[in-house]
Amino acid sequence: MLLTDLCLSCLLHSGGFCTFIHKQTHHCVVHQSKLSHIFTSHICLAAAPEVLQSGEQTSHPGVTVTLGCSMAPGFSMSSYTMLWYRQTLYGTPIEYLTNEFEKVVGRFQSFLDASNNNFSLEITKLLLNDSGTYYCAASHILLSTFDVKLVHCANYEAHFGQGTKLTVLEYNVTAPTVKILPPSSKECKNKKKTLVCVASGFYPDHVSVFWQIDEVTETNGVATDNNAVRKNESYSITSRLRVSAKDWRSRTFTCTVTFFNGTDYKQYSDSLKEETLSFCCEKTMQQPKPPSIV
Ligand SMILES: *[C@@H]1O[C@H](CO)[C@@H](O)[C@H](O)[C@H]1NC(C)=O
Ligand SMILES: *[C@@H]1O[C@H](CO)[C@@H](O)[C@H](O)[C@H]1NC(C)=O
Ligand SMILES: *[C@@H]1O[C@H](CO)[C@@H](O)[C@H](O)[C@H]1NC(C)=O
Ligand SMILES: *[C@@H]1O[C@H](CO)[C@@H](O)[C@H](O)[C@H]1NC(C)=O
Ligand SMILES: *[C@@H]1O[C@H](CO)[C@@H](O)[C@H](O)[C@H]1NC(C)=O
Repeated sequence: MLLTDLCLSCLLHSGGFCTFIHKQTHHCVVHQSKLSHIFTSHICLAAAPEVLQSGEQTSHPGVTVTLGCSMAPGFSMSSYTMLWYRQTLYGTPIEYLTNEFEKVVGRFQSFLDASNNNFSLEITKLLLNDSGTYYCAASHILLSTFDVKLVHCANYEAHFGQGTKLTVLEYNVTAPTVKILPPSSKECKNKKKTLVCVASGFYPDHVSVFWQIDEVTETNGVATDNNAVRKNESYSITSRLRVSAKDWRSRTFTCTVTFFNGTDYKQYSDSLKEETLSFCCEKTMQQPKPPSIV
């Protein structure tokens, strides 16, 4: 969750002040006047409601889609003001769309059915630039229809769901090609080695990457790009695994990319066995050097 982006969006609307509860730490994060003053404290917490959202989707231009939102057991929508936001491009401010009172704003319409724990967002006549991540939020402030326009920029606490990624398809769906690149020959003398996994040629960018060493999932030393990079009609993404000397010998390294094609999740992998990297690393260091070419 990008707290700063959410606050930035709020500040853009209000020029003011907003408060969010950080989900993991339960700290109150207060961003004041143009993010110049940021501090955290423990003082402000009621039980944070958990907002749940429907899974990722792909669709086509002109079509109508519905995104779902509900609250975890123990929380009722009727105790909150429910809102929808979106972030269309990675790193850009979060944009307010609508709330339970405002209902219809342009092509966006919210439906609240608190008794069935259902707050959904309908987007009609999809455009390509509607692609992005849609956030459902619950605010403690109970508003009347009178201050409807203010709800998203007032001084309030809001709890955001994980987001639903939506892509309005511009090109044909294409699965990734996954390839692990071995450590560079320069790295042979280092104790730690870096393997680079490159997934490319896929569309849309609904992917996640994980690594395994001898079929056991490894999370230490893994760094995956925050977002895939677009090249013409497809995307690529890279992930790096730093392997310690003790984990290096006689191991099999596997990089797996999970790809959502609009209906199903499928996995695409590449593996690399340490033994096969004859050019690299400790073993070859002891071999006589080839005669130098004059
Ligand atoms: C939630 O409400 C929307 C709009 O009325 C409806 O399309 C959707 O099927 C409902 N979802 C559930 C899980 O009942
Ligand atoms: C999205 O595209 C439409 C037309 O294709 C344009 O009118 C609209 O301003 C665009 N919206 C954004 C947020 O760029
Ligand atoms: C996309 O897929 C359709 C149907 O499979 C095919 O006819 C078309 O040529 C493809 N377009 C591109 C750009 O590959
Ligand atoms: C992208 O398209 C341009 C022009 O159509 C082409 O010159 C370029 O090689 C393409 N790049 C890739 C990575 O395919
Ligand atoms: C996604 O994968 C499923 C299962 O392999 C397949 O039936 C479906 O046609 C695929 N969808 C697209 C859009 O490629």
